[in-house]
This record gives sequence, C-alpha cells and structure tokens, in this order.
Amino acid sequence: MKKRIGILTSGGDCPGLNATIRGVAKACYEMLGQDKVEIIGVCDGYYGLIHNICREMKPEDFSGILTRGGTILGTKRQPFKMMTVIGEDNVDKVKNMKLTYHTQKLDCLLTLGGNGTHKTSKLLADEGLNVIGLPKTIDNDIFGTDVTFGFHTAVDIATDAIDRLHTTANSHSRILLCEIMGNKAGWLTLNAGIAGGADIILIPEIPYDIDKVCASVTKRSKSGKNFSIIAVAEGCFDVDEAKLKKKERAKRRAEAGITTATNRIAAQIQKNTGLEARVCVPGHMLRGGAPSAYDRLLATQFGEYAAQLIKDEKYGMTVAKVNGKITANKLEDIAGKTKFVEKDCQLVTTAKNIGISFGD
Ligand code: F6P
Repeated sequence: MKKRIGILTSGGDCPGLNATIRGVAKACYEMLGQDKVEIIGVCDGYYGLIHNICREMKPEDFSGILTRGGTILGTKRQPFKMMTVIGEDNVDKVKNMKLTYHTQKLDCLLTLGGNGTHKTSKLLADEGLNVIGLPKTIDNDIFGTDVTFGFHTAVDIATDAIDRLHTTANSHSRILLCEIMGNKAGWLTLNAGIAGGADIILIPEIPYDIDKVCASVTKRSKSGKNFSIIAVAEGCFDVDEAKLKKKERAKRRAEAGITTATNRIAAQIQKNTGLEARVCVPGHMLRGGAPSAYDRLLATQFGEYAAQLIKDEKYGMTVAKVNGKITANKLEDIAGKTKFVEKDCQLVTTAKNIGISFGD
C-alpha cells in the first residue's frame, strides 16, 4: 500500500523550512521505499488546503534545497481564530480542509509552522485527520521543545546586526537601538543581545522602566563609554503599559501613532540623557537567507523523526527536541501554549551578572 503524505508550511517563513521538507522526504523514501510513498505539496499553507491547491512532488523536488531559504511550498498567514468563522466569501474553511485531505486521498498531513499553525493542526486532528506538526519559528516560543528550527539562524543574523552597529555607535558616540522580531516572546532578542554584546536588553517578559533604561545609559556614559547598544524586542512594553490589557495597550499606541516601542525609547533616551540615539530595524532580514549549520542539522533531525512517526502511524503529535533528544509531544499538550522567557532563568541571570540591564 502506498502512503500519500501531504505537507504544508504555514505562518511566517524562516530558514530551515526547506531543509525540514527535504529531511522528511528523504527519510520517507529511504525508510518506506521510494515506490511506496507519494508526497503531495500543499501550496501556501492552510490557504492551499482550504482551496485544494496541491501538487504532486517528485524526488528531484527535494534535491538542492537544504541550503535554500524561505519555503518551496509557499506560505500564508491564516489566523487560527478565523478558522471556524465563515466570512464574506461563505467558505467553510474546516469543511474544505477536510475535503481537500480526502480528495487528495492523504494518509497523513505534515504541518510545518509556529504556534498558530499548531492550533489549527490540533483542530484538524480533533476532526479526525492524521496530523504531524513540526516546530518552526524564529521566535523559539513553541511550548514543549527546547528549540525550533529557524531560531538559531535568526540569532546569528541578529547578532551580526548588533555587531555591525557597534562601529557606528562608537564612531559617532551614539546610542543605537536594534529592534529585533519577537512580539510575545523575547528569546531572539535575549540570545542575540548577549551574543552581540548589547548593554541593555528589553523583552516583553520583563517590562522596562524608562528611567532605569536612561540611568543605565547615563552610567555607561559617565564611566567613559561613548556609546551604548540596546537590543529591543519589537513586542516589549514599559511598566505602565504592563498594567493594561493587550487590546488597550494596542489602542493607546495606535492613538499615539506608535507601532513598536523602539522609536519611543530612542526619543525618550535622547531627551532624558542628552545623548544622540538612533534606531535600526533589521525586520524580515532576520528570517531571510540560508539556514545555519545548526538549523540544517536540526531540520534534518526533525524531518527524519517525522518520517519515523509516519512509518509507525503515530499521529496527533508534533516533533520536538527535549533535553537534547529528538522526540514528539501530543498536539493536545502543546497547542495554544506559548514558551516564554522566565524572568529569573539562567540566561537572564547570566546577562544581569555581566552587567546587562533589562530596565527593570
Ligand atoms: O512569527 C515570526 C515573526 O517573524 C515574528 O517574530 C514577527 O512578529 C512576525 O513574524 C512578523 O510577521 P509578518 O512577517 O507577517 O510581518
């Protein structure tokens, strides 16, 4: 009996998606036999599943993609909270996804994505489909796994950005703020901030006090350092905003014409300390280009493990790395949960003990 395996990539792209797809395909061909496997690529994530946009893939499709950034399948954001809502287009998304699965005669569906993707994966598993998730995101905030693929490459890129800002900060005696992606979780900013030698790190899990941020900058300046580097997570907020609900916070910021806190912090530092401040936003560059060696390895291990799950017909799971070992969690145990940086975790303590300020 041939196995028909559907595969999709959903949510924001990141380095390592293609390496994972390749890992799954190569391991399936190897372990199940090339003539016993048919791989169906679902285009543009759940959008392709809703609209039955699929293509049969051949072994050669998986060659030469280990180092390729982005995703060969395409991706789209398809918010989970809208999945069960029938919109103006009158499309019943859940019904359609199940229909595509059955029309394509799939035996299982692999979903490569982040937190939102995993919520939909669980929904589909609850609807009776055989689903296996794979943890992708530069945010590293998927619950139940030490690490997600894409994260380490993004840490390398963000670290490089911070490294490069040092020269201008030093030459011009400036305060340079580097805004790093991460709306809810500060893993990327924390890791790149430490690796890049930032002086201050601001993350959503630790609301900052602007007076303390300015005091750290002034202290450094008075000690003879002519510049400071601040790594700012895009989703960070101050102690007053921390008292507000997310929607209220967003409303206030919209009214004040603020998207992220970074520009506001730069303006406050310049006003309060008299030092010149500038902002740099690497943005989607953090998700671009080839995966690092670490991510190629992780993606290959994750992909191979997913193939093992397919072989053993273990569904309703998502692949994970736990205490250094590749394993899998039940979707029901992780979907809908976020892995946050804990305020007193070892990495934060290490940073504080070498003099990095979190503005708290
Ligand atoms: O989830 C990954 C991520 O890069 C976040 O860090 C960031 O907040 C968001 O995606 C950006 O989304 P988009 O690419 O849709 O602008």
